[in-house]
Amino acid sequence: MTEPLTDPVVAPDNEASGQADIATLAPPDGMAATVADVPVQHEVTHPVPAEASTDDLEPPTPEAQAEPEAESAPARPLIEPLPAPPDTRIMVVANQKGGVGKTTTTVNIAAALAMGGLSVLVIDLDPQGNASTALGVEHSTGTRGTYEVLLDGDAIEDLVVVSQEAPNLRVLPATVDLAAAEVELVSVVAREGRLNKALRTYLKDHPADYVFFDCPPSLGLLTLNALVAANEILIPIQCEYYALEGVSQLMQTINLVKGELNDELDLSTVLLTMFDARTKLAAQVVDEVRAHFTEQTLPMVIPRSVRISEAPSYGQTVLTYQPESTGAESYLAAAREIARRGAKENS
Ligand SMILES: Nc1ncnc2c1ncn2[C@@H]1O[C@H](COP(=O)(O)OP(=O)(O)OP(=O)(O)O)[C@@H](O)[C@H]1O
Ligand SMILES: [Mg+2]
Repeated sequence: MTEPLTDPVVAPDNEASGQADIATLAPPDGMAATVADVPVQHEVTHPVPAEASTDDLEPPTPEAQAEPEAESAPARPLIEPLPAPPDTRIMVVANQKGGVGKTTTTVNIAAALAMGGLSVLVIDLDPQGNASTALGVEHSTGTRGTYEVLLDGDAIEDLVVVSQEAPNLRVLPATVDLAAAEVELVSVVAREGRLNKALRTYLKDHPADYVFFDCPPSLGLLTLNALVAANEILIPIQCEYYALEGVSQLMQTINLVKGELNDELDLSTVLLTMFDARTKLAAQVVDEVRAHFTEQTLPMVIPRSVRISEAPSYGQTVLTYQPESTGAESYLAAAREIARRGAKENS
């Protein structure tokens, strides 16, 4: 079924006054009541930088200037407790097209779920280490992380770090060394299953509700390792020209992996990112993607937002950087929907 395009979450001009959209993003009635046993909510403690810059996409408005800063605002829960899935959901965030919002989606959804009381692990599989940066985790050269797990057989539990974003959000960092792993893995025995083995061992002693792999923009051995270890795929699709370019190749790879290496794999979620409400093209892309992935596409879209793109430079997600922004609200809404679907799916 095609969703209407009038979802107010999408208007970038509303960034500064994002609260106006919250009503439309609320979880279905009664959801919060069903999750009483989930651990206590995370509260926002990061200060919001006093002067969040804007660009021509989002000119400062009087409301933006009047917006209170976090220091003076009382800390409040950013999100209500979210329902846990019956089994660990292991999600690969993949799209071999570069710059479509894989990392941004990984870190913001992971942080939102963790703030909702769920236990979350992010595995950074991109030598760029962008997910590690955005989650405020050290990943300079020499930091041990995904490379050591894949190539040296180190245990994940020895290398994960707690993110500053939420106490129950853990990260396996990636450094530039990981670029070499793509080549070095070629000659390793059972090269596609290394991560799967390490993750299964980790999860035995450290159960998690969600695991996310942030993949590089390629379908090499790193992404393949994630596809073998996962049970679900989340594809972020940018609302721009050629949005679906590459997705058919990704689908072929998924089907190959399904047939040969991992029967469990399921493309469960598609998230439309960087939506610009002012362009007809973006609306057309939304229609096209929803027609193609009717069940999988989340009803909310992520707007193009300067706040979202600024957050990583503070080592934060947009959720703690600008919790009141439309960008934060849209990722919170997407996380709610992912949690809701995950809790329902196998119950
Ligand atoms: N909703 C958004 N609004 C504005 N900018 C965004 C949004 N989402 C992502 N960006 C910015 O777009 C760029 C690409 O996003 P991101 O790094 O998440 O993509 P990616 O798919 O992980 O890229 P890569 O393929 O290089 O790993 C980044 O600079 C990011 O800050
Ligand atoms: Mg990335």
